[in-house]
Amino acid sequence: MALLSIKDISVTYHSGGRHVKALNGITLDVNEGESLGIVGESGSGKTTLIMAILRLLPKGTAEITGEAFLNGKELLSMKDGELSKIRWEEMALVFQKSMNALSPVHKIGAFMNDIYRNHKSEVSKNDGEKRIKELFELVNLSPSVYDLYPHELSGGMMQRVSIALSLMFNPKLLILDEATTALDVVTQTQILEEILSLEKKLGITRIMITHDISVVASTCKNVAVLYAGHLLEVGPTCEVLVNPIHSYTKGLINSFPVFDNDIHQPLQSIGGFLPDLSSPPPGCIFAPRCARACDICRQSKPEMKKYEQGHYAACHFAGGENNVQGS
Ligand SMILES: Nc1ncnc2c1ncn2[C@@H]1O[C@H](COP(=O)(O)OP(=O)(O)O)[C@@H](O)[C@H]1O
Ligand SMILES: [Mg+2]
Repeated sequence: MALLSIKDISVTYHSGGRHVKALNGITLDVNEGESLGIVGESGSGKTTLIMAILRLLPKGTAEITGEAFLNGKELLSMKDGELSKIRWEEMALVFQKSMNALSPVHKIGAFMNDIYRNHKSEVSKNDGEKRIKELFELVNLSPSVYDLYPHELSGGMMQRVSIALSLMFNPKLLILDEATTALDVVTQTQILEEILSLEKKLGITRIMITHDISVVASTCKNVAVLYAGHLLEVGPTCEVLVNPIHSYTKGLINSFPVFDNDIHQPLQSIGGFLPDLSSPPPGCIFAPRCARACDICRQSKPEMKKYEQGHYAACHFAGGENNVQGS
């Protein structure tokens, strides 16, 4: 059974008289112990998907339909109390600006210790401190960080604190939303390596959300390609990146630099822009930017079809078996 099973999730934002269809029927499974990268350019709906299943979207403006099961428990219909427990103890989120969640006027250790003891009232302050320093060690932070204020940390240290915080209650599922995007390449690589070794040590399942396909290539077993709120391709990373089926996936791959002594390939950008999500085009959502698009692409929406084991794509062009992903 999948640890996380997302079934037909759609999200529409109603704001300022506009109705933005940010997600359209997303179906995805994440198996226990595996890692899933979710890639797509800015505005494709990556954060919306995660916020929808964590139930963190603004209630008044975001309309959500579909289901999401974590360990068999449906999240969208769950009572608030049960969900807030699950949010810390079963799945945890690290995002780009996670440190904003820390108090600027409290020392990091004291703040984390308060959170820890709020959840575990039987734990003493000393034992809380021990646990926090244990978490610091896991993410390669010095115990002296316990007595620092957030403004005293570098970007890399901040994200390590955020990861430590997310691991406080041993979650099974760790979700990182552009968590290393703002870091320099050296620090990003170090933190990614640490995350990989942590997840082996702790048996964590991970979802990695990023616009950077190279991060997915080096750290995720599976990848899902999201575009303008539509899932266009999903499968094992080695399969999808070597034999991409959808033109958008090919475009994403070609728009990232390859460092190789023999290859001096110019970068190829994907022409055009994301469609206006308040009036998306009929047919394939990528058709207006796709060099191969023909009449059928502009008229009817392609279904998800199966190509190889676990490799699915929604494109009229590439053959494939008529087999909707997840069915
Ligand atoms: N609170 C909101 N109200 C209205 N539209 C939103 C809101 N949040 C996000 N959107 C829109 O939803 C789409 C997807 O955004 P987002 O999930 O942030 O994408 P990504 O994380 O892939 O960059 C974008 O068009 C964005 O403008
Ligand atoms: Mg985002």
